Amino acid sequence: MSLLRVRDLHVHFVARDRYDQVRVARALNGVDLSVDRGEIFGLVGETGAGKSLTAHAIMGLLREPARRVGGSIEFDGRELTVISDDELNSIRGDQIAMVVQSPRTSLDPLTRVGEQIARIHRVHREASAEQAQARALQMMQAVGIPDPQARMRAWPHQFSGGMAQRVLIAMALVNDPQLLIADEPSTGLDVTVQAQILDLLRASVRERQLAALLITHDLGVVAQVCDRVGVMFAGVVVEAGPVEQVFTQPLHPYTRHLIGSSPDRLTLGRGAVRAGAAPDLYNLPPGCPYQNRCPRAQPVCQGELMPLPVDEAHGARCHFPEPGP
Ligand SMILES: Nc1ncnc2c1ncn2[C@@H]1O[C@H](COP(=O)(O)OP(=O)(O)O)[C@@H](O)[C@H]1O
Ligand code: SF4
Ligand SMILES: [Mg+2]
Repeated sequence: MSLLRVRDLHVHFVARDRYDQVRVARALNGVDLSVDRGEIFGLVGETGAGKSLTAHAIMGLLREPARRVGGSIEFDGRELTVISDDELNSIRGDQIAMVVQSPRTSLDPLTRVGEQIARIHRVHREASAEQAQARALQMMQAVGIPDPQARMRAWPHQFSGGMAQRVLIAMALVNDPQLLIADEPSTGLDVTVQAQILDLLRASVRERQLAALLITHDLGVVAQVCDRVGVMFAGVVVEAGPVEQVFTQPLHPYTRHLIGSSPDRLTLGRGAVRAGAAPDLYNLPPGCPYQNRCPRAQPVCQGELMPLPVDEAHGARCHFPEPGP
């Protein structure tokens, strides 16, 4: 059974405009995904597709004006949308941990690095100061920080971007979480360092049999480290499956467009797919959110959005997937 299972997750931003009219941005429109132990599930899509929002919803970190208006988030057999804030707080940072982009702003500039790692261990595990220090040292070693004993006492500004990201990964792993969510963990790092960070993530997942949700806008990252992938558009996972299958036999027109527009990949789309502006979340069309950009759109696409065939290893939310039925 999957460790994490998100079903039909809907999140809206509700606000009033200057005429006091209620305006609703439909940011997540029925996200489905699942992540198993020992695998990396990549969530890929353009900026604004709703990837980070999905992560925040799973972490229980949605803040007004964002509201979850439907759907379920099941973690290790427990429904997270109904548990108390206290319970959620104890799960977060312990059983579920998150690594974000831009490590520099996520580290406290006034606290020594080793202490930042140790603190998370102390808070959640009621460890003694000595135990927590020892654990922090062990984690710095595990994430490949050279000379960890000395680096424990260094300040965040003394770390390069790649080393700072390793520290964040150490912080995420210090309490042995079951689920790791990494939101663009290698974005902004130079190519070599990026590859090292991704290798570290992959090794950590394998060794610890973690489930990992890796968020990226980069298909190359998915190809490098993910086992399965979900392609997100306008708050919907429009296609999901094993990476190899999705990349070589994409079913959804949007996936075909993405793969075709990525410079290092084969152009798989038959005929040009119209690129277009980002969808307007305040005015999404009924039915399929991709219909205004889709070369295969038919009137039926304005009807009900197709469900993701969750029982199949590889499927797409499309009336006319390719190869067609
Ligand atoms: N306060 C807000 N009001 C309305 N829409 C918002 C607000 N904050 C974020 N959004 C929208 O939510 C969508 C999802 O954002 P996000 O999850 O950050 O996308 P991604 O991580 O895929 O780039 C974006 O299109 C963004 O414009
Ligand atoms: S459901 Fe219709 S509009 Fe949407 S992607 Fe499929 S063919 Fe295109
Ligand atoms: Mg994001």
